[in-house]
Amino acid sequence: MKKNIVLIGFMGSGKSTVGKVLAKQLAYLFLDTDREIEEKEHKTINKIFEEEGEHYFRKCETELLKNLEISSENCIISTGGGMPLMEQNGEILSKLGFVVYLSVQKDTVIKRLKYDMTRPLLAGDHAEEKVAKLLEFRKPIYEYTAHMMIETDHKTIDEIVEEIIRNY
Ligand code: S3P
Repeated sequence: MKKNIVLIGFMGSGKSTVGKVLAKQLAYLFLDTDREIEEKEHKTINKIFEEEGEHYFRKCETELLKNLEISSENCIISTGGGMPLMEQNGEILSKLGFVVYLSVQKDTVIKRLKYDMTRPLLAGDHAEEKVAKLLEFRKPIYEYTAHMMIETDHKTIDEIVEEIIRNY
């Protein structure tokens, strides 16, 4: 296993926020897979979904993971919420480093992402139902993929970071 920490979990679980603080404390590099893909494609996530479709985006994610498996060391890697969905990604993720699942409940997601327009999968009406459905489907995949799980709903960023460092 490589010496990275990989954060997985649903949209709004705090992966990027936690990841940045964690990186600072451990003096690791911070990397966000969504931002890497946006940079490489010269488009926002929204635009990629709109113009190329979700399947294309998933292919970008897998390609990026394969590159990271070769090139990353001492990194905190924050992943897009759908990263573990493709079966092969799960395998690469666990070779990439210590995988931490930040779990979050539906109501917390709704509260955190209420006015956020950057998540194409939650766009439009019935966001609550969409979150519930996706969460139910993905929960077992996150659990299966991760080495460790942290419930984030009632914890501060510092508490989550401390818990990760204690178990790393
Ligand atoms: C997605 C989550 C997003 C982004 C894309 C798809 C998902 O990342 O990768 O919109 O399938 O859950 P965040 O988890 O950082 O919001």
